[in-house]
Amino acid sequence: MKKIGLNELREMFRDFYIGKDHYYRGSYSLIPENDKSLLIINSGMAPLKPYFAGTETPPAKRMTTCQKCIRTGDIDNVGYTDRHATFFEMLGSFSFGDYFKEESIKWGWEFLTEVLHMPEDRLWASIYEEDEEAYSIWKDVIGLDEHKIVRLGKEDNFWEIGIGPCGPCSEIYFDRGEAYGCGKPDCKPGCDCDRFVEIWNHVFTQFNKDSDGNYTPLKNKNIDTGMGLERLACVMQDVSSIFDVDTIRYILEGVVEMSGVAYNCGEAPTDASIRIITDHIRSITFMVGDGILPSNEGRGYVLRRLLRRAARHGKLLGIDGSFLAELSERVIDVSGKAYPELEERKEYIQRILAVEEEKFNRTIDQGSVLLEEEIEKLKEKGDNVLPGDIVFKLYDTFGFPLELTQEILKEKGCEADEEGFRKLMEQQKEMARSARKSLDSEGWKEDAVFLGDYEPTVFIGYDTLNENAEVIAIISGNQFTDRAGKGETALVLLDRTPFYAEGGGQVTDTGVLSKGDFKAKVTNVNKHHHVYLHKIEVLSGTLHKDDIVTAQVDAVKRHGAARNHTSTHLLHKALKKVLGEHVEQAGSYVSDEGLRFDFTHFEAVSKEMLADIENLVNSKIIEFVPVQARELPIEEAKKTGAVAQFGEKYGDMVRVVSIGDFSSEFCGGTHVSNTGQIGVFKILAESGVAAGVRRIEAITGAAIHHRLTEAEETIAKAAEILKTPAENLLSRITALNEALKESKKELEQYKQQAMGSSIDDLVAGAQEINGIKLITKEFSDYETDELRLICDKIKEKVKAAIIVLASVKNEKVTFIVSVTDDLLDKGYHAGNMVKKIAAAAGGGGGGKADMAQAGAKDPSKVEDAFAVAATLI
Ligand code: ALA
Repeated sequence: MKKIGLNELREMFRDFYIGKDHYYRGSYSLIPENDKSLLIINSGMAPLKPYFAGTETPPAKRMTTCQKCIRTGDIDNVGYTDRHATFFEMLGSFSFGDYFKEESIKWGWEFLTEVLHMPEDRLWASIYEEDEEAYSIWKDVIGLDEHKIVRLGKEDNFWEIGIGPCGPCSEIYFDRGEAYGCGKPDCKPGCDCDRFVEIWNHVFTQFNKDSDGNYTPLKNKNIDTGMGLERLACVMQDVSSIFDVDTIRYILEGVVEMSGVAYNCGEAPTDASIRIITDHIRSITFMVGDGILPSNEGRGYVLRRLLRRAARHGKLLGIDGSFLAELSERVIDVSGKAYPELEERKEYIQRILAVEEEKFNRTIDQGSVLLEEEIEKLKEKGDNVLPGDIVFKLYDTFGFPLELTQEILKEKGCEADEEGFRKLMEQQKEMARSARKSLDSEGWKEDAVFLGDYEPTVFIGYDTLNENAEVIAIISGNQFTDRAGKGETALVLLDRTPFYAEGGGQVTDTGVLSKGDFKAKVTNVNKHHHVYLHKIEVLSGTLHKDDIVTAQVDAVKRHGAARNHTSTHLLHKALKKVLGEHVEQAGSYVSDEGLRFDFTHFEAVSKEMLADIENLVNSKIIEFVPVQARELPIEEAKKTGAVAQFGEKYGDMVRVVSIGDFSSEFCGGTHVSNTGQIGVFKILAESGVAAGVRRIEAITGAAIHHRLTEAEETIAKAAEILKTPAENLLSRITALNEALKESKKELEQYKQQAMGSSIDDLVAGAQEINGIKLITKEFSDYETDELRLICDKIKEKVKAAIIVLASVKNEKVTFIVSVTDDLLDKGYHAGNMVKKIAAAAGGGGGGKADMAQAGAKDPSKVEDAFAVAATLI
């Protein structure tokens, strides 16, 4: 076979299927759209689910793609085997109710044998054991020898991933030859050995699996084929490891160069590290390229894990400092042509990688030292399970993802107390739990109702807030219905709507639908694929299908959202002007109450800069700049220099919103028509949300008025409490502060004096045991330092004494034990004693011979603890 490069194979596949009348589409983003059942795209068919399920109409009945995919299920094997990877590309051909098994298999065979010239005798096929149709296609149409058609069970030859479309499949295998095999006489596809490589899966998608595990036949029979490009390249380049495929080897050489460690394609730990970095840099470069940012949740966490794992293996190879951003250059070099988003976002990708890696580097050494120490301790104790609190500390304080800690522990023959860790995580989450929306499967659930036949809803809400519209459909409890009566909730489809559907960071419009007696609150509007679903609660009367209703948007809410949306555009531009052109929008949330804008920047924004930004926005507001929206063909829009939203998918026509010549952005949101309508803009807070991403929260117009009124009330109340006119507040507070400081000082002096006399009392009250004075005393709310001081003072006055002091504060006890110097020679050791003493009150501690400290939980046992002290003398 002729050796063919990976990039060339991708093109050959594309051209072959275009030749078979397939519509070619570049890869979809790694971020699933409208599919909450999936975190990251993991196969060619995943972004096409709505076409298979029939809830959306595909651009063509035959499609072909090369899809970027990430799977982390086998991550533990990555680096240690020749073929595991987290990132891969999947070549796919798809039929949505068009051709079926015969063409799929025939064309697959044709591509492999006639285009790539794979020798026929090296190809085998497997089928689902009950699929006679596939069997006879292989046997009669292709002419494959019967012994090379292997029947396998559901486990191997029935394809499903999560919920959604699925079905039986047939896989094509390449026989690498006996040398790679196990030698068993019946070795064939399905065998565990390395001889037969599975290269191409043809799935005959006939069912839809729902979340309850039911399989319903699909209206259309579909084809979904998937072939791992890297594996195909292995075969075509006659190498046994994907890390030896041309493009991947190029990245691997980068790791070798940076680390100065040779790659021996072998079992050495350094080889595994080199492969891990090579694989992970591909995943993380593509992920950031699609707009995923490192975080502690969901996709962001997958990215963070991969990145930190790669960074740590870099350290193991002895690479000094950060290297991932530089290495990503190689990924972009080899894949940038096929994935132009990498080229376009190169600078951004490298910046995000660098910031996250640096952030990790700052704590990795400390974290590693802690972990090493803890492992030592475990070994000393003959234990091998690292307690959950240490695992949590590594996670929370040093940024070690659980999986990283587990990996390091595994290398040392230890493991983590995962349950303990998860408990602590849960506790932390519980504390921080905000009103975050749960990631339920709402998006896919609504697909249970078929919406594909409906015309796109016409959105007329840019121009009007009140229109008549026809009720096209009513959905209640996932079923179509003809009516919705008083007290019911339902989803309503209108032929046209003035309601803005939640999207582009802007909240949904709310309002009212009415007709005669009928009146319903519209509480939420969601754009589902191309139709708008209005969620209603019927207040009176009954709504019927085909009714013409009046759709009225809540104007006050809408105007509030518009003010804030236009303000985000002003803010975006102001940020670029004040902080620099590197600022990119990383997210936004616009409601009638305020706005939140996330952007890329590497450090906290100074107060002065925030003031400049706020002033710039306000200067544009008082200039009364007109705001205009235009629909333009995308190419033309790009030429105007309008800013496109990162990671967004745009159609052929885009809407461009410009604010005079100050700002111009692609945007589908609703805006004021003149910046003067915003009134005024005020930044409330600036904070960090992820590595390299900052957030500004701000309010405008009426919200500022409310806030001002509140602030005035607070000031007035404060003035009243301090009994001074508001304008004297500052001088009054300063004076009070001074007075407070004075009082504290006096109190301190008083305490010192009191301590002096109480020390005499303490000494006088000492117990004598075997010629040694035992001085015990319980205090409340004393700091440890104060206890130590008392010990020192006592020691100035007495010899041959053991002092045991306790302070109860916040339901906890602190013990201090101190031993006078003359007793040290006699073997009295404060550290040893305090351990036993504190144990009596449910605690523990330790320290030096002359002074030691311990904490305990049970204040009611202090006397018992003192009694223990007496027994120790
Ligand atoms: N969707 C099928 C797979 O990923 C082709 O194997």
